[in-house]
Amino acid sequence: MSDDLPGVSGGPAVVVLGSANLDLFANVATIPLPGETVLADGPERRVGGKGLNQAAAAARAGASVQLLGAVGRDDAAAMLLAAAADAGIDTRLVRRADGSSGTAWITVQPDGENAIVVLGAANRTVTSLEPDERGAVAAARVLVAQLETPIPAVREAAKVARAAGTTVLLNASPVQTLEDVDRRDLLGLTDVLVVNQHEAAQLAGAGTDPAETARSLSALVPIVVVTLGGDGALLADRTGLRHLPGVRADVVDTTGAGDTFAGVLAAALAAGDDLDVAAHRAVIAGALAVESTGALASIPTIDQIERRRAQLDEGAIR
Ligand code: RIB
Repeated sequence: MSDDLPGVSGGPAVVVLGSANLDLFANVATIPLPGETVLADGPERRVGGKGLNQAAAAARAGASVQLLGAVGRDDAAAMLLAAAADAGIDTRLVRRADGSSGTAWITVQPDGENAIVVLGAANRTVTSLEPDERGAVAAARVLVAQLETPIPAVREAAKVARAAGTTVLLNASPVQTLEDVDRRDLLGLTDVLVVNQHEAAQLAGAGTDPAETARSLSALVPIVVVTLGGDGALLADRTGLRHLPGVRADVVDTTGAGDTFAGVLAAALAAGDDLDVAAHRAVIAGALAVESTGALASIPTIDQIERRRAQLDEGAIR
């Protein structure tokens, strides 16, 4: 299927600049409050990182995908690269940095909610782009970036993309890493902003009402997508603001659901789908992702997404 979706000049349809992390999951009764100690089951070692998750989501949704980023020289690196290759991602430009790969400590409670602490490690060495990486961005249809990669590299990639006519999709997560000056600069280079409602409120800097924040961010970015978990998503573009309803899901673990949404949205936009169609597919994919554990492991394939979509269209499920 990836051959059907070439990027410009035969490049990948989607280039993801982002993190790859070893995720250490601990299952807890409740996520600890500051100063609290809780006991856990685990740890389970899994593959994750917002960049790798989003790349896998786009690849499983049918796009040809290239990942840009760095892993370390440790056991985790082999596990991350093998999982990426298994998901069909081109990892030829992923760098090897001295030291460890990124690591995320993830606590998950029974209702599927999580709390995550990330140690950037190798991911933090990507502070600027190499010529080959700039070429890959310029040849792609869509650049996807998040904020677990140093901001200077994200900004550079967005500038290259802008100059080449590559669509820039920014998932501004984790949003607290963004200084005000970077915020204005990066949003000015972004075509599609994907954030959850908390990130939207932080980026907008005023108010917490998702519709209000989506409207205010759409003055800065042509397309704003605010994900609402089980309630679907808000879309804001030049035709106005609209709500895409959520899809019912049996929630087990919400880790990676936002990444699944962003990656599937990117793949659909790269394939030329209209925004509402692309976002509907992303909502369905996000719902499927919360129904199993892990980040990358829970990302659905295009067949699973289409099956759920057909069931919804037939009214067999809600
Ligand atoms: O969005 C989920 C991801 O955040 C995890 O896989 C973890 O590695 C962190 O990057």
